[in-house]
Amino acid sequence: MAYQKVDTKEIGLDMGLVFMKFFLKTEYLHYGFWTSDMPVDVLNFRQAQENYTQQLLENIPESVKTILDVGCGSGKVAEQLLAKGYQIEAVSPSSRLTEYAKKLLNNQVHIYENIYEEAPIQKTYDMVLFSESFQYIDMHKLFQNALKHLNPNGYVLICDFFQRDGLSGSPLGGGHKLGEYYQVLAQYPFEVLKDQEITDNIAPTMQVVNDLTLQVVQPLWYMLIDVVSVKVPFIARVLKWWFRKKIEKIQNKHFKGERNPENFKKFKSYRLILLQKK
Ligand SMILES: C[S@@+](CC[C@H](N)C(=O)[O-])C[C@H]1O[C@@H](n2cnc3c(N)ncnc32)[C@H](O)[C@@H]1O
Repeated sequence: MAYQKVDTKEIGLDMGLVFMKFFLKTEYLHYGFWTSDMPVDVLNFRQAQENYTQQLLENIPESVKTILDVGCGSGKVAEQLLAKGYQIEAVSPSSRLTEYAKKLLNNQVHIYENIYEEAPIQKTYDMVLFSESFQYIDMHKLFQNALKHLNPNGYVLICDFFQRDGLSGSPLGGGHKLGEYYQVLAQYPFEVLKDQEITDNIAPTMQVVNDLTLQVVQPLWYMLIDVVSVKVPFIARVLKWWFRKKIEKIQNKHFKGERNPENFKKFKSYRLILLQKK
């Protein structure tokens, strides 16, 4: 079941990488970290993503030498970590992203091609990193595994968003429930060294995504429907009827303009969290 779940989400990540690499010249798969002096513009998205990676790097404790990068995506963060002299291994359940990461990293990094819950990792590390991969992983399994994979006094660094508690009707999916995270964490021997909310710095990313969706994807979508309707009217009618619920769902989800920074701030809490094994 877990594989099935990853597979459908992975397609979105694979497509995201193709798009971001070609149009935005970036290979990161995480949000951007926006500072107040940066105009929120698609042209600055790459810089915002670099800033995000910088935030990760600045929060790695000095004693750390070995890192397990869980959910390494394209391998771009691992590449930066290698450049800083860290010894890296990674976990990646997506075959396409793993292939991409292997090439980017010149096969210098061992990648466990599995979901973290089931990866057969026997080694231990000074730090386990979850850069926007925390939300995909069962939290109990994650903390149980991290305890096994960490050296004494080792660290967990999480950078990801959570669902704020007590709210319903979010137009944005994803993220563990924040209250549930604190409850689960309390059951494992970790000390919280840092738990910083950085939602305001991350939310502008949604402006870029929303602008791209409404100004590029939406017109292309309706143009495609028009072309199919003109060229093959009968097939278009059948497809529209057959997929009517799917089409309605996609249009409602993406084209209402609700996936914006205001709703991101309202429904999500983006946090940078550093834990130490007790
Ligand atoms: C949003 S991307 C982040 C990629 C990268 N860490 C970054 O910061 O650019 C999420 C990553 O989590 C991975 N992932 C999803 N489910 C996972 C799981 N159960 N175990 C490990 N990784 C998972 C995906 O394959 C993908 O590489």
